[in-house]
Amino acid sequence: MPRIAYVNGRYLPHSEAAVHVEDRGFQFADGVYEVCEVRHGFIVDLTRHLNRLERSLSELRMPMPMSRAALTLVIREVLRRNHVRNGLYYMQVTRGAARRDHVFPGPDTPMTVVITAKSTDPSIIAKKNENGISAITVRDNRWDRVDIKTVGLLPNCMARQQAKEAGAAEAIYVDDEGRVKEGAATNVWIVDEFGTLVTRPADHGILRGITRTTLMDVADKLGIPYREDYFTVDEMLKAREVFITAATSICFPVVTIDGTTIANGHPGSVSQKIREAFFEIAEKVTI
Ligand code: PDD
Repeated sequence: MPRIAYVNGRYLPHSEAAVHVEDRGFQFADGVYEVCEVRHGFIVDLTRHLNRLERSLSELRMPMPMSRAALTLVIREVLRRNHVRNGLYYMQVTRGAARRDHVFPGPDTPMTVVITAKSTDPSIIAKKNENGISAITVRDNRWDRVDIKTVGLLPNCMARQQAKEAGAAEAIYVDDEGRVKEGAATNVWIVDEFGTLVTRPADHGILRGITRTTLMDVADKLGIPYREDYFTVDEMLKAREVFITAATSICFPVVTIDGTTIANGHPGSVSQKIREAFFEIAEKVTI
């Protein structure tokens, strides 16, 4: 069965799906994206993902390419056509195709909208949750507006590749003061010595992850204390637990960082509790 993509109003097999050679997403990374989890036939946290899409576009002075209702319809259709029950959809919106020029094209230039979807294997995620993952730390070398979810991800790709070559699954960005920022494609959390969850404040220095926001709802419901605060690499290495969050993985325990074992080297109970309660509390929209 061929995978089907939505491209500018048409549903096409991947082999036929394409954008213009002068698309500004391709030439300038002049576009934004969202990745959203699908679990047991439900789209998870759709409203928050659409809110963030709208914010990212507006920060780059682009309107929504169509109404939320129309976007939701297309997302559902792509998921249905790809028979996704567990997996994700990927949405990319760019400023459109125009003769190459750094300056924005005219407002009548149609924006590009691409939506793809794929199934994922829940057993791979389960295994990572059971064993935990390894991470490395890297200096943050990105621009100062990483709160906008742009498709300009080359530094993130370089960092993930560096992690892979070091036998790790994630690279954790560190600022010039030695404080933890976020992962190459995840937010980072610790459980401190008092059992409080701590994650960096979502200023312009990190992406305000949707999973991060919903996790705070989960912590509220479970009565787990949390705060948004800065913490150093040293504090992270001494934490009771470290975990990373993203729509594609929800909440992976990190058991070694730069070769140092975190706590007893096994996934902790707090992240497990959160993971178990997450889908109960997150918004679920039927496909
Ligand atoms: N990445 N920080 C960065 C840099 C990210 O790229 C992501 C998500 C997150 C977590 O955000 P959320 O909880 O909304 O998924 C934090 C997606 C999954 C990706 O690029 O594939």
